[in-house]
Amino acid sequence: MEKKIILSGIKPTGIPTLGNYIGALRNWRLMQQDDNYCYYMVADLHALTVRNVPEELRQQTRSMAALLMACGIDPERSPLFIQSHVHQHAELSWLLGCTTYMGELNRMTQFKDKSAKHADNINAGLYTYPVLMAADILIYGAHQVPVGDDQKQHVELARNIAIRFNNAFGETFVVPEPVMPKFGARIMGLQDPEHKMSKTDTNPNGYISLLDDPAVITKKFKKAVTDCEPTIAYAEGRYGCNNLLTIYCACTGKTMDEAVKDFEGCGYGRLKGAVAEAVIAEIEPVQREYRRILDDREYLDGVLKKGAEQAAERAQKTLDLAFSRVGLR
Ligand code: TRP
Repeated sequence: MEKKIILSGIKPTGIPTLGNYIGALRNWRLMQQDDNYCYYMVADLHALTVRNVPEELRQQTRSMAALLMACGIDPERSPLFIQSHVHQHAELSWLLGCTTYMGELNRMTQFKDKSAKHADNINAGLYTYPVLMAADILIYGAHQVPVGDDQKQHVELARNIAIRFNNAFGETFVVPEPVMPKFGARIMGLQDPEHKMSKTDTNPNGYISLLDDPAVITKKFKKAVTDCEPTIAYAEGRYGCNNLLTIYCACTGKTMDEAVKDFEGCGYGRLKGAVAEAVIAEIEPVQREYRRILDDREYLDGVLKKGAEQAAERAQKTLDLAFSRVGLR
């Protein structure tokens, strides 16, 4: 049986949050099964769409790669690479850009959000960001793209581009589909549980960074916003409580029913303590492994070099086919 191809990427800007981990990174690890072949990359080209400091980008890119390995990506099994090390992505992106309508890009909610946020730097890269992302996906023939829910629209655009290109030039690309975690796709902020947990939250108590100290994690959960209901339950409108229960389930593997039972007759103090403990148990080993890998320069460089070579081999094949389909060869 042919293996299913999986691809995903993450930008190297900042340290991922617990929300990124539960909604995406953890599933990257879980998808490395025998009937899948996974490619994982650090999307450094995408990071350039906001103003950047070169030395920081360099350092954060390596650090993100180390963190991905620490989260359980096994480079012996799944090529792990840096987007810019595989030059074919940017080339395919040009072809795809010529198959994408401005109307489609105008509808991208991330573009609208980011242009509102960076009103002084609405650059063309920010606008064509989803086209490069489509190239990332289509160049590997990915069947599935595990993403958090904020990237779903971009994967859907990649589907439409693939279908349109195939119709115009003949079968070239696999039509990918987004895969969202069954559970925990949207972990909410701890201070504002009606909005997604975000590392760009101006209040650091609103999010758990994957590299937060255990003591800091405990403190942030203690301060989490909840409500004044007397019981712990998963219920419509109880955003803060639902969010804590969801995090608890995600980190313990329990079902929501089991979780609610665990806290029968308890107050928020107990729940918050237990959630913090579960989160620490899940991410402490990740933190340890991260430090070990980041310290081993030679090993990390070797992994990324090999990953880029493996990726480029596959990418070049698709690029050759696409070039020839449009009449460039
Ligand atoms: N845009 C994604 C994000 O911000 C990162 C990304 C880049 C990506 N290329 C991708 C994700 C391809 C999935 C597939 O998180």
